[in-house]
Amino acid sequence: MTDVIEQYRVTGEPYYRPVTDEVAMFEAAYAAKMPVMLKGPTGCGKTRFVEHMAWKLGKPLVTVACNEDMTASDIVGRFLLDADGTRWQDGPLTFAARHGAICYLDEIVEARQDTTVVIHPLTDNRRVLPLEKKGEILRAHPDFHLVISYNPGYQSLMKDLKQSTKQRFGALDFNYPEHAVEVEIVAHESGVNAEDADKLVSIAERARNLKGHGLDEGISTRMLIHAGSLMAQGIAPVAACQMALVRPITDDPDMRDALDAAVTTYF
Ligand SMILES: Nc1ncnc2c1ncn2[C@@H]1O[C@H](COP(=O)(O)OP(=O)(O)OP(=O)(O)O)[C@@H](O)[C@H]1O
Ligand SMILES: [Mg+2]
Repeated sequence: MTDVIEQYRVTGEPYYRPVTDEVAMFEAAYAAKMPVMLKGPTGCGKTRFVEHMAWKLGKPLVTVACNEDMTASDIVGRFLLDADGTRWQDGPLTFAARHGAICYLDEIVEARQDTTVVIHPLTDNRRVLPLEKKGEILRAHPDFHLVISYNPGYQSLMKDLKQSTKQRFGALDFNYPEHAVEVEIVAHESGVNAEDADKLVSIAERARNLKGHGLDEGISTRMLIHAGSLMAQGIAPVAACQMALVRPITDDPDMRDALDAAVTTYF
């Protein structure tokens, strides 16, 4: 079992450029055994931050991409049939709690509420996980830590975390970083030069002003890295921006024109 957990160890420092005090805040929350919620739009660094923190704290990282078809058994575990009869298999949450990993439940709000409540006994001072089918009450390993992500833009009233879930977490707000920091990240991650990275960030800043005025979400840091990566491959900037920034984000012809205009202002 110990070798299995080793597979979840983060080897090599994941590049993360701190934006404010999030690294120190996360370290304090980890030490205080306070579960953490990362809030923010898509592509702004939440997953990279968790990877970096797992590396920094020297803990394995178990990530679960949540979806609406997920049942409690998918994260807690189930009995499997094999040649010798039945065998219990820990789900990712149980596995992380047993072996002292950081468990990252990505887009937790996608999961049904009956799935979300299984984390409750783990996220208060009991730190236990009742495995009812197995007849075991698992005490979480002292190193276990729970992290969830949450995109505040996506929630409808029907689909939101219960207050009783939200209030178990400390929260860190993520957003697109300020100009100079984002330029640094885009240049580092895509290999594009600083001057072009600066232009890409300026285009995104214009487009972000269109959020709510025809765009559901702004152009993310992730998209800028895509554009920069194409440019680093020798693709002309305008074509790179169309492929990586304009076309994925909207099908509306007027909105595409508006974004194209922002691109040609800089390139
Ligand atoms: N502060 C940062 N330091 C280093 N890289 C960053 C930072 N912010 C964003 N990135 C880059 O942006 C990319 C997208 O970030 P990430 O995958 O962490 O987004 P996310 O917030 O988890 O998005 P989603 O909600 O869609 O899962 C990363 O792969 C990384 O290259
Ligand atoms: Mg992510």
